Amino acid sequence: MKRQHIVAGNWKMNKSFEEGKDLAEAVAAGLNESDTIAILAPPFIHLSAVSMTVQQKLNLKLAAQNCHQEQGGAYTGEISIDMLKSVGVEYVILGHSERREYFGEEATLLAKKVDAVLAAGLKPIFCCGEKLPIREAGTHTELVSDQIKGALFHLSAEAFADVVIAYEPVWAIGTGVTASPEQAQEMHAVIRQLVAGQYGAEVADATTILYGGSVKPANAKELFSQPDVDGGLVGGASLKPDDFLAIIDSF
Ligand code: PGA
Repeated sequence: MKRQHIVAGNWKMNKSFEEGKDLAEAVAAGLNESDTIAILAPPFIHLSAVSMTVQQKLNLKLAAQNCHQEQGGAYTGEISIDMLKSVGVEYVILGHSERREYFGEEATLLAKKVDAVLAAGLKPIFCCGEKLPIREAGTHTELVSDQIKGALFHLSAEAFADVVIAYEPVWAIGTGVTASPEQAQEMHAVIRQLVAGQYGAEVADATTILYGGSVKPANAKELFSQPDVDGGLVGGASLKPDDFLAIIDSF
């Protein structure tokens, strides 16, 4: 896979079924054809309805917010990757800081989920990012590097080519405080360097690295103009079609 421009909307646990369908329709209706891939990540229960809408546009794709690592069987309440695939999901967000914080997800489990997603031919959007005390202590590059190494670096270069990375400093998520373009660029460059060290410069150059954390229409252009920022993972602003579309148009 080549490096791409991606703007993904993570709806988290928001929107009723009808509201979700309306939001997806509004995004599809307003989406311009371009090289930027727009991704909608609604709650599981809305995926199959949103899938119909996503099919209207070539550059609109569907993501899940999580998945189970096993193929199927006695895992009450869980959703398998084959189920996601069967409703048209192409990407799966993994390791979001809220999954790490509230559901105890860490490297060993995330590595299994990454493997399962890739084995099914889907693409993980792997999230990493530090909390505020780590940033203040100045150890954020080590922490993010460890998160990436621990969950991804067992992959072959071929498998890694399908991974999208999202750098999301936890202190910027849902807080309205965005990382400055310089802070985002600095970490994205560190991540690309790390990937180059493991897989070589060609793979690193082709890796799509998204920024997440209070991306809005007012700051998207500056963030996306950084050389190593290839797009965004957007929470709050993805719930408003006009804001989400304006962010997509910020390239
Ligand atoms: P936010 O969320 O845009 O609301 O800060 C980003 C995310 O959690 O992916």
